[in-house]
Amino acid sequence: MNDESSAVDYEQFIPRETGFIFKFIKKDNQFIHTFIEGKLIEKVGLCPDLVIGRSLTGFLPADQVKRKEVFYEKAWNGEQVNYEGSVGGIHYLAVLNPIRVNGETVEVIGTTIDITKEKIREKQAQQMEKLSVVGELAAGIAHEIRNPLTSLKGFAKIVKESVTDQKLIPYLDIMLDEMDRINQIVNEFMFIAKPKENVRFQYTNINKLLRDCIQFMGPQANLKSINIELEAEVQINLNCDGNQIKQVLINILQNAIEATENNGHFIGVSLEEMSAESVMITVSDKGCGISESRFNRLFEPFYSTKEKGTGLGLLTCKRIIDLHHGSIDIESQPGEGTTIRIVLPRNRNVESMLIAE
Ligand SMILES: Nc1ncnc2c1ncn2[C@@H]1O[C@H](COP(=O)(O)OP(=O)(O)O)[C@@H](O)[C@H]1O
Ligand SMILES: [Mg+2]
Repeated sequence: MNDESSAVDYEQFIPRETGFIFKFIKKDNQFIHTFIEGKLIEKVGLCPDLVIGRSLTGFLPADQVKRKEVFYEKAWNGEQVNYEGSVGGIHYLAVLNPIRVNGETVEVIGTTIDITKEKIREKQAQQMEKLSVVGELAAGIAHEIRNPLTSLKGFAKIVKESVTDQKLIPYLDIMLDEMDRINQIVNEFMFIAKPKENVRFQYTNINKLLRDCIQFMGPQANLKSINIELEAEVQINLNCDGNQIKQVLINILQNAIEATENNGHFIGVSLEEMSAESVMITVSDKGCGISESRFNRLFEPFYSTKEKGTGLGLLTCKRIIDLHHGSIDIESQPGEGTTIRIVLPRNRNVESMLIAE
């Protein structure tokens, strides 16, 4: 087999930027690769030297080898085989075509194309769909739940204050706690459904806003002996919806406190000027961190690893930050901690921001 000339042929019909092509034969009951070419090879962490002359076991982990050998076997038996796979965040679609001479397979040609972008788009579309369902639900029932809930809560408080049987107090406390939780879910629902309705931009001192949030979270942090420290060398006023940015900070601090176990009793909050155009707020914890498998799901509605979590906190943050034309970025090391960075634009006037919606 002359691999040099084959490479030229394949280049004409395989977009080298987005895929690769490979060939294998079956020899002594083993699938041996005889050729590989294309840009995607490096992206999936391979190189021709690793692949050519070797079987799958030579360069793939055992669980992947098993799965692929099934496809390879089918192709060798004369079937065209399609399969999807992913390595290191790259999703690909592979097609195996057996080349048959006199009814015998002499080699199999595999073509692989990068479908990462399509996969991401598909996921986003699914997420939007989920969100629109959430939105409809929220718009329809959240108000209806909130009104009776307010009466329930008010009366439960009155009963708690006047009850004479002390044994009932813990039950009433649980009722009040649970009503708070329902209220929180309903509020988050309503915000996700219609985040733009209540936006009120005004000049806000971010240093004060951060201090207020830290103070607000103080009692909860104290319970776990966590010290929340603010580092801000500049005074920053931003044109933003202060209440919403507070909501973002509170959600993030809450997550940081919840993630903190026995190790780091410290959460750092910092405020800095990035440029004339933007400022950055950073919240770092030394908590449990986020594993790679969880990382991609953080902004999904209802994705929570907590028994009592709503899985709406980070999504709400993202919605608010998007509305402010900013960005939110998460970096995490499992077991070491998590850093959340929020970048917000500054000095944009209210009109231009609202018109941009
Ligand atoms: N600082 C953090 N450290 C570790 N995990 C985090 C952190 N922030 C968020 N997470 C993970 O992201 C998930 C989603 O967070 P969120 O949207 O606020 O929902 P919830 O807090 O209700 O679970 C959490 O359940 C948790 O697994
Ligand atoms: Mg949360």
